[in-house]
Amino acid sequence: MKLPARITICEVGTRDGFQIEPDFIPTEQKIEVVNLLSDAGIPEIEVTSFVHPKVVPQLRDAEEVMARITRRPGTRYAALVPNDKGAVRAVDAGVDVIHTVLSASESHNLANVNMTIAESIERMRAVMQVAERARTPVACGVSTSFGCPFEGDVPLPQLESVVRRLVDMGARAIGLADTTGMANPRQVGRAFEHLMPKFPGIEWTLHTHDTRAMAIPNILAGMECGVTHIDASIGGLGGCPFAPGASGNVCSEDLVHCLDAMGVETGIDLDRLIAVSRRVQEIVGRTLPGQIVKAGKSTRRYPVPDTVAARITTARA
Ligand code: COA
Ligand code: ZN
Repeated sequence: MKLPARITICEVGTRDGFQIEPDFIPTEQKIEVVNLLSDAGIPEIEVTSFVHPKVVPQLRDAEEVMARITRRPGTRYAALVPNDKGAVRAVDAGVDVIHTVLSASESHNLANVNMTIAESIERMRAVMQVAERARTPVACGVSTSFGCPFEGDVPLPQLESVVRRLVDMGARAIGLADTTGMANPRQVGRAFEHLMPKFPGIEWTLHTHDTRAMAIPNILAGMECGVTHIDASIGGLGGCPFAPGASGNVCSEDLVHCLDAMGVETGIDLDRLIAVSRRVQEIVGRTLPGQIVKAGKSTRRYPVPDTVAARITTARA
């Protein structure tokens, strides 16, 4: 496999994950998780979102979380915004990066942000203006890039057209999101192979959900095309409140374990990350989908059973 030597992981659990938790996660605990994640060496954290507090009440404390986290030098603190009102709030809260959201399919965009794609694009223009005035970089996420829970297939020309409109208005970073885990590795490869040469100089991110156990294969397919920015979520938290059937993102510690095992650098301390995942399980009060927390790392060893030990000694003698 031809893989990049280094991957930049953006942790989205405190946004994509906490937004869909049935119970409101207390502000104090959100802050604790963000701080633990930055201590584990996560380079970028999507801390929260600046959306309508009635639409996503779980993240209604966005300002307070941003104000009270400990800013670790070297960590970039991002937040998701759907419109310019969100962008103003995010800039006022001091985010390092604005992540925007719109969908490649009309019905999911309407369900998620109550706008047509064309209306969303116009809002993105306003977001860019707010960000430019504040000198805050913007990364544009495209939901349902590989399939829509309402419409099914999202044809590549449709995705390309949305990406083109974002690039034309100045987007330099684009994230393709598989919102409900419909993508497969070949499809991911085809999408990036198609889009990358058409939009040179764009920094691409892949945002996956493990709804159908294809997140890591999809990420590997993206990496083979040269994608070096990947979103992931601690413990495998995550899901979109406005996409039926959505479930967790690719699990951060499982992904870091996989990359470590292959010698791909992330700069993240895996043992600390596993400890964060355990803490998050305590906070949400249930077992999360991540596998490494349960299985241990592949370097884990068990004591040899006595009967086997005796036979090894005999065999070696
Ligand atoms: N933050 C806070 N309030 C906002 C806001 C934002 N980003 N955007 C709009 N509002 C307020 C407006 O000020 C207005 O308030 P008022 O009634 O007191 O005047 C009200 O919301 C309605 O504004 P409007 O532009 O008509 O918004 P809407 O009701 O059509 O909702 C969104 C549009 C985008 C704000 C809403 O659908 C939303 O927050 N979606 C986020 C979905 C999400 O997070 N999905 C998961 C992530 S993928
Ligand atoms: Zn997501």
